[in-house]
Amino acid sequence: MNNLLTKHALEQSSKKQIFQKKLLDWYDLQKRELPWRTNPTLYKTVVSEFMLQQTRVSTALPYFKTWIKKFPDFITLALASEEEVLKAWEGLGYYSRARNLHKLAGIASSWETPPETVKEWMTLPGVGPYISAAVTSIALGQKEAVCDGNLVRVLSRIFAINEVFKDGATAQKKLQPLAQHLIDHIRPGDYNQSMMELGATVCHRQSPLCLTCPALSFCTSGQTGNAEDFPKIQKKKNKKKSVLRYWVEKKGALLLYTDLNSKIKLSGIYELPHLLPKSIKYVPTDVENLGIRKRTIGNVDHEEEILRITQFRIENTNLAGDYLWAGKKKLKELTLSGPHRKWIEEITRNLGSPMKENK
Ligand code: ADE
Repeated sequence: MNNLLTKHALEQSSKKQIFQKKLLDWYDLQKRELPWRTNPTLYKTVVSEFMLQQTRVSTALPYFKTWIKKFPDFITLALASEEEVLKAWEGLGYYSRARNLHKLAGIASSWETPPETVKEWMTLPGVGPYISAAVTSIALGQKEAVCDGNLVRVLSRIFAINEVFKDGATAQKKLQPLAQHLIDHIRPGDYNQSMMELGATVCHRQSPLCLTCPALSFCTSGQTGNAEDFPKIQKKKNKKKSVLRYWVEKKGALLLYTDLNSKIKLSGIYELPHLLPKSIKYVPTDVENLGIRKRTIGNVDHEEEILRITQFRIENTNLAGDYLWAGKKKLKELTLSGPHRKWIEEITRNLGSPMKENK
């Protein structure tokens, strides 16, 4: 950290104070009005940071609003069923966040006073360095710096950091001490949010708005005009995975599947099946190709080819517990993986809405 600061203006504490003031003044004037920023509470901060951990503000926003109406506090959330919680999270992805938030609400419901230190927060379900720093600084006024992808971009540009990081997570770990060095001690939560806000609205990955940036006078790469060259992170090729998905309808109901033994905690999240139950017999000629859909999960690009089984026979009407037939109403109630819901809606429209009003 020290060698990153050497010869930079922000090494001097008087300059650091000016930097903090510029950022906070800019934040006070320019920050987006977001629902977790108006009448903030610990609960709202926790929910928003769980949602925002892997998700953009624009995506999380409608979910946050609905969530707060449905589950206004830790106790209501703790009392809800896991099914209700997953349903409200449907489409946000990374469902373990929802399960952990639900567990955390169970613990928080019995707090007389919440824990105040990052160390204590880190012992809670789903809380890592990012969420613990964000929550303790924003809601509890602790001087704890966050270092997410936004901060990596902003800091690596201000200091024109030439080190090539192995990946984003390594960069966040390595730059955390620098973020900590710069944090404002009077308004740490607002300072953290101002740096994230700067990353999201000014210091864009491409075509950053350097000329309007409150940190320009401190930013080495912004002044050189090569901000886009930072951060330097090794490019990794995503892995590719192809999978077949089956579209099978019976009396207006669609066959869906959930992996009850999922190691990545997808149990309860329904998708078009990638394997058919043994009881469904068909001949390969009775198949119509409904096209390939693509989605990326983490660093894997998935290609999912959807085949419609047009003629089939059911040998035994008992379905294994991980399959079910869902009519229109049931389809609405179930939690589906976000992309699968989108594809099912699109295909249903294209096929002329074969799903009838039944369970
Ligand atoms: N990203 C994560 N947390 C955020 C926050 N509180 N404000 C803006 N962007 C964020």
